Amino acid sequence: MPDPAPPIASFAAVFERRLSRREFVTAAGGVSAAAGLALLQPGEARGAAVAGTTLARIAPSRRDALELAAGHRYDLVARWGDALWPGDAGLDAATLRRGGLLDPGAAAAQARRFGTNCDAIAFFPLDGRSSRRGLLCVNHEFVDAELCFTGLPRAERQRLKERPDWIRRHPEAVAWMQAAHGVSVLQVERSARGRWRHVPGGRYARRITATTPCEIHGPARGHELLRTGADPGGTRALGTFANCAGGKTPWGTYLTAEENVDDYFGGAASWLAATTDARTRAAHERFPLPERSPYGWEHGDLRFDLRQEPREPLRCGWIVEIDPRDPLAPPRKRTALGRFSHEGANTILARDGRVAAYMGDDDKFEYVYKFVTRGRFDPKQTAANRDLLDEGTLYVARFDADGRGEWLPLVHDENGPLNSAAGFRDQGEVVIKCRAAADRLGATPMDRPEDVEPSPVSGRVYIACTKNGSRERDSKRANFTNREIDLGADAANPRLLNDFGHVIELVEDGDDAAATRFRWSVFLLAGDPRVPGSRFLTRTEDLVAGRIERGDTYYAGYPDASQVSPIACPDNLGFDPQGRLWIVTDAESNLIANNGCYVVPTAGPDRGLLRQIASGPVGCEICGCEFTPDGRTLFLSIQHPGEGGTIDDPVSHWPDGGDLPARSALVAVTREDGGAL
Ligand code: FEO
Ligand code: CA
Ligand code: CA
Repeated sequence: MPDPAPPIASFAAVFERRLSRREFVTAAGGVSAAAGLALLQPGEARGAAVAGTTLARIAPSRRDALELAAGHRYDLVARWGDALWPGDAGLDAATLRRGGLLDPGAAAAQARRFGTNCDAIAFFPLDGRSSRRGLLCVNHEFVDAELCFTGLPRAERQRLKERPDWIRRHPEAVAWMQAAHGVSVLQVERSARGRWRHVPGGRYARRITATTPCEIHGPARGHELLRTGADPGGTRALGTFANCAGGKTPWGTYLTAEENVDDYFGGAASWLAATTDARTRAAHERFPLPERSPYGWEHGDLRFDLRQEPREPLRCGWIVEIDPRDPLAPPRKRTALGRFSHEGANTILARDGRVAAYMGDDDKFEYVYKFVTRGRFDPKQTAANRDLLDEGTLYVARFDADGRGEWLPLVHDENGPLNSAAGFRDQGEVVIKCRAAADRLGATPMDRPEDVEPSPVSGRVYIACTKNGSRERDSKRANFTNREIDLGADAANPRLLNDFGHVIELVEDGDDAAATRFRWSVFLLAGDPRVPGSRFLTRTEDLVAGRIERGDTYYAGYPDASQVSPIACPDNLGFDPQGRLWIVTDAESNLIANNGCYVVPTAGPDRGLLRQIASGPVGCEICGCEFTPDGRTLFLSIQHPGEGGTIDDPVSHWPDGGDLPARSALVAVTREDGGAL
């Protein structure tokens, strides 16, 4: 049963403190004015507040282990296949090795177990502001089929022919993969000795999968383009999948982001060749789909075949809100926040109490978005907050070369650019065709924007642009994802062949998350300063678009290359209570080494002193990056350890070691002395 006691009190306290912090910031006991900090030119924050720096760091590693900086340890909280309810021993290695995921009942069992490839994590205290007992909402982004099914043809060589044939012979694999996707809600607690553990069962344990009924809310609810044979009203979608990063709301709910939904549908070319439905065709144009999907679900579930249901994909690619305290409430797809490859949605209060959610569209040359609610968050009115995300203004960012920028409103208006003649008959069509609407407003195409996260301490917003190897040195007009853009380097994406990625720092005008103008600067050009011949840049005047080579680096102006850690492909971001920025990465191992977790102060004399705190096992990326309120625990997702191998030919045995199969898992990182990280 839902908890009769609403979660508002604790979250209201958190966000009220955020408001007061932004006026009277205390970082590490010191005092600095965040509003004043925001008045500085970006890049000039050094010398302001002093935030402590974790001095310990580790060197990049290629070991098949989760290595941590000295003085830190981790607890394994949940692995793929661990039971969420008592009475189930969970998935065992012998079952995995003999191909048992195709057994009758395997999908039903998986639907009650921790899913594959954990990603975003959100911690919700169960007792007030408790940092010892809470609920975790965890995304399960996708299935690495090679690491699950024995005898599966390897994807890279055989995907086009043999993989579909295998799935047609084993359609039960599709049901199993659908059960391994989605979101887990689980209870965790910290013992008196400081160790974390999962507590199976309880009133809140929940699995949401790719088949769980979800409600469609907001301006696209009931829209003609969302109506299908199975749902003629366009109000009820089945499941959520491709759940990548996420976020939390001030009222204590979880936001999960549907990202690479285009990898799940097939039959597009055949359908396009035969259809006369120009409106649906146009809706797919800027979020195109393949003829054969990488995951092959269309071969086992006709819902994923465009020839059968061409509007089904339009019901995916949204931000979905889940109330972790109400296991019976359906997940709600919040269409007001637009449809694209959603990485995450990170919220903060504007000065007047409205709620802003920052979001990235993680594809090459896609955009950065912000949604601002029409209503204000009221910590005392639970019901009034419940649907705040259904009404408000969705904006897309334009970054100007002079360091200014503007949030452009994606609003249907017959007298504006987003009108019927342009293909936008109503606001529903604007949010469904969000990328096309953003094109028309002149938004800035970015180098794969992933997490976009406001600091709860300073209000500054950090944008992880993970990489874009297609970024050219000079201006060059070309068609990319069905619209013409300039592929050349620009001020906000200044590096050609941007394999290592960068981070942008954004300061809203008036330090107000509801502002429509902002200033921005490059905070980090990731890379490896140890490489001979690479330039370690320290001055903002060196950051000239197109003049920055692939190997050049910049650490917010930090002057000493010997003190910083190399880093590649920033993906998810997080903040500790001091306001230090934490970054986890998703890079190919040939760039530096295994993926890791890093921390960097954004203010004070150590601004830009980025240090590596963790190195993940072989083949993994690290996701999540969620702190408990006391800053003493950092939850991380170790996603796809062993990627690059197969279950028959493994390259990782993490976390269980020996010759056991690799499994994605959620860990809790703490200090051995019990202090804040
Ligand atoms: Fe699923 Fe953009 O990472
Ligand atoms: Ca990600
Ligand atoms: Ca984050």
